[in-house]
Amino acid sequence: MNTLVLNNPLIEHKLSIIRDKNTGTKEFREIIGEIATFLCYEAMSDAKLEEVEIETPICKTKAKKLDENKYAFVPILRAGTGMLDGLIKAIPNAKIGHVGLYRDETTHKPIRYYYKMPKDIANREVIVLDPMLATGGSACDTITMLKEDGVKTIKFLCIIAAPEGIKKIEEIHPDVKIYTASIDEKLNENAYIVPGLGDAGDRIFGTK
Ligand code: PRP
Ligand code: URA
Repeated sequence: MNTLVLNNPLIEHKLSIIRDKNTGTKEFREIIGEIATFLCYEAMSDAKLEEVEIETPICKTKAKKLDENKYAFVPILRAGTGMLDGLIKAIPNAKIGHVGLYRDETTHKPIRYYYKMPKDIANREVIVLDPMLATGGSACDTITMLKEDGVKTIKFLCIIAAPEGIKKIEEIHPDVKIYTASIDEKLNENAYIVPGLGDAGDRIFGTK
């Protein structure tokens, strides 16, 4: 399986807080950002580093640094922007593209309304952000658009994934690795994740 699940008691504790329907917008948003930072650390575990010479207060030494200009974050609007702060904390110089998609309420298929990428996106490693991977339609369409723009390395970060969404990415985009804090049980008849956390966008922005 091309999916990495964060396996950590503190993450599980934080997930329990955001799953709870009584958790308010402020705490929900903060925890989404915190978990996103952890997902970013995992997603960077295969990053290539360059050797540089630096001077500590004690002596000169060789050290290793990341080329931060190689990366782009692409949140899927709206809910993906809730993860963005957590990623920018880890890699402040990454560029940011946006994809606007919403799910049609009856067909559950994604409808595209916005797409804006940095000019040099084809030369960057792209990390796509969306807290919820449900049917996988939004993630797969986003990845397809990025590949059409010439992007070669793509990772997908989410807070909660449904088995159906993971299967769809693995079938359509087997080269894309998924990083998630949880794989939940299933989708319900409205294509919501069970047990999930409800509508991530509404809970991040307080729109319901
Ligand atoms: C949610 C979520 C994903 C999508 C996941 O967005 O943030 O983008 O649904 O579902 P899928 O895997 O079945 O495509 P939504 O369409 O509710 O839009 P929003 O972020 O604006 O609330
Ligand atoms: N989008 C959400 O915000 N939540 C789900 O459970 C499924 C799609």
